Amino acid sequence: MLASWCALLLPALGLLCFLRMDSDLTLLWAAWLGRRPEQALPGMVVWVTGASSGIGEELAFQLSKLGVSLVLSARRVQELERVKRRCLENGNMKEKDILVLPLDLADTSSHDTATKAVLQEFGRIDILVNNGGESHCSFAVDTNLDVFKVLIEVNYLGTVSLTKCVLPHMMERKQGKIVIMSSLSGIVPRPLCSGYTASKHALRGFVNALQIELLDYPGITLSTICPAAVHSNIFQNYFTTEAIKTRWPKTQEFPKMATSRCVQLMLISMANDLKEVWIAGQPALFRAYVWQYVAFRDWIISRTLWKKSMEHFRINMRMTLKAIITGG
Ligand SMILES: NC(=O)c1ccc[n+]([C@@H]2O[C@H](COP(=O)([O-])OP(=O)(O)OC[C@H]3O[C@@H](n4cnc5c(N)ncnc54)[C@H](OP(=O)(O)O)[C@@H]3O)[C@@H](O)[C@H]2O)c1
Repeated sequence: MLASWCALLLPALGLLCFLRMDSDLTLLWAAWLGRRPEQALPGMVVWVTGASSGIGEELAFQLSKLGVSLVLSARRVQELERVKRRCLENGNMKEKDILVLPLDLADTSSHDTATKAVLQEFGRIDILVNNGGESHCSFAVDTNLDVFKVLIEVNYLGTVSLTKCVLPHMMERKQGKIVIMSSLSGIVPRPLCSGYTASKHALRGFVNALQIELLDYPGITLSTICPAAVHSNIFQNYFTTEAIKTRWPKTQEFPKMATSRCVQLMLISMANDLKEVWIAGQPALFRAYVWQYVAFRDWIISRTLWKKSMEHFRINMRMTLKAIITGG
């Protein structure tokens, strides 16, 4: 009798746990039993790109409480100064521990000089967080090639270029962590953001190949972070069919993870040198597992789920454009 109750209860409990998970199993395990960020990261020099907003801003904020030295990079200096003030007010840092370093990821010719500026200020780079990025939302067939170019230049080439500038320094020291902000769209392709999906898939290929090239440098670790939707400004800033920014109204259409929770999980991943982590609640996490491990995945995901979301996008876009035009 007891055995049959256990046979029923255990799978039910397992299912309940899976439904409540907001990251993959390895990250969950590290969060439970692994090294704490407050043990592993203090004293480190951390360079964060895309630090002027969203996930990068929150990462800077949480890192500032851990006693690290911070380099904040993005294009908007005013926003970076605001983030710096926030870190100084609430964090465990002094003015000399934070460097605001404006940087355009698309301007790869400036990356070497920027790297030298960080080394001159702090003498070393322990962690590079390649977080800065752009997105778009439109059907590929309607989208100007310029949008695809910008996404590859910023999301992919910008990250590759900065990683290449920092890597020789880490190889000389035989240690360092490189964090690459990908997306769950870097694993499971998403319609309506083919350019974004492609740039994040390209990053995954780059990291996986570089990982092998660095086999003789076990002290250098690469971590790819793959979140699903997270609260940030990306949903107001994305491109549509042209490479110009439209400030979209805030939407509440789909659930997003709190930025602070996403960053907590990122820090656990950094503290434990996890190679690739998925940060997502359900049903996105379930979708990622299906995509990675199940046959007929294409039929299950593309034909059932995405078809509906494309139709929804068509209707929604028409309504949003109408509201913008009429000033509603
Ligand atoms: N939010 C999500 O749902 C989500 C999910 C998966 C992955 N991600 C990834 O998370 C990263 C951060 O995005 P977010 O969600 O925090 O969006 P966000 O609030 O819009 O922040 C994007 C950041 O990237 C910077 N950036 C954009 N273009 C840049 C360029 N050419 N050069 C330098 N910096 C640039 C922006 O700064 P400036 O404008 O000041 O340059 C900003 O700091 C991105 O790589 C994104 O793909 C986000």
